[in-house]
Amino acid sequence: MMIAKSVRKLEGYVPGEQPKSRSVIKLNTNENPYPPSPRCAEVLKNFELENLRRYPDPDCTELKQALAKLNHTTPDRIFVGNGSDEILALAARAFVEDDEAIGSLDPSYSLYKTLAAIRNVKWVGNRTDGKVSLFLWTNPNAPTGTLASKDFVAKTAKSFKGVMLVDEAYADFSRENCMELAVAANNRNLIVMRTFSKSFSLAGLRVGYCVGPKPLIDALVKVKDSYNVDAIAQRVALAAVKDVKWMRANVKKVVATRASVTDELRKLGWTVNESESNFLFARPPRGVKAETVFRELKKRNVFVRWWAAKNVRDFIRVTIGTDAQMEVFMRELKDVCKR
Ligand SMILES: Cc1ncc(COP(=O)(O)O)c(C=O)c1O
Repeated sequence: MMIAKSVRKLEGYVPGEQPKSRSVIKLNTNENPYPPSPRCAEVLKNFELENLRRYPDPDCTELKQALAKLNHTTPDRIFVGNGSDEILALAARAFVEDDEAIGSLDPSYSLYKTLAAIRNVKWVGNRTDGKVSLFLWTNPNAPTGTLASKDFVAKTAKSFKGVMLVDEAYADFSRENCMELAVAANNRNLIVMRTFSKSFSLAGLRVGYCVGPKPLIDALVKVKDSYNVDAIAQRVALAAVKDVKWMRANVKKVVATRASVTDELRKLGWTVNESESNFLFARPPRGVKAETVFRELKKRNVFVRWWAAKNVRDFIRVTIGTDAQMEVFMRELKDVCKR
């Protein structure tokens, strides 16, 4: 058989839908509703075609320098990837033996299970014991939006024999994060991962990075493609880091909208987790099915996310959009729930 057995039985990850139509209110993949820094536009406008003739910098030197400054560490403690999804795949390659397992919270980012299947190793939920050699800890978690304290993460990592990768895709929207643990001199097994896709409004660019102990960072470098981050992505991400104020202003707007939509939903009888992210995880009032809300909203061009898995099927996940988008969402939602 030409296709490997593990691949034949693989289900594959199903990403949130990316509709072609611009008229859709897209609250299904946790993108940022606000544009990236104008400095990114400047870079693109002035980018010389000649730069594409050559291969990009395999070490992302300038970007790593800027990220080191931002996170109070040194460039040799940083790894840059083609989106943080690439870093997750590389971690599965670098830190897991064939007879070991990958662990994560459950429910959590569903790609983790697929990565374990691709790597042909076991996935286990909510456990760090036994054969688990890589634990992917989404914090704040997705799709629940909830946050584990830095102290709890530190304590768990300390007693864990494997690599603890804290996926902080949404950390800029939360009260607390674990970067301080990752940059600490005595850290031996904790990696903190961030992305440009959410708070920096650059999901289309595909850049993520992580910070951790040098031996672990060096291991990731060994298993990566030589030129994993393209020349344009390196430049644009650098411009975004240099204008971190812009990102923080957008985050502030998202956090304010998050609070008001949470209140509104609760007033309508929805159960809404206290979110530390750029999305809400919400359960409709008795008598209304989450799946129906998801399907009916879709008919009205409002896309949210819903999963059939048992432990999440009573909820919808709604990305925080602009105030105007959330007004439409609330209007349509009220109409859907009335029926
Ligand atoms: C928890 C989590 N980690 C990682 C990612 C992927 O981010 P990137 O766009 O950097 O690959 C996502 C995207 O939705 C996510 O929710």
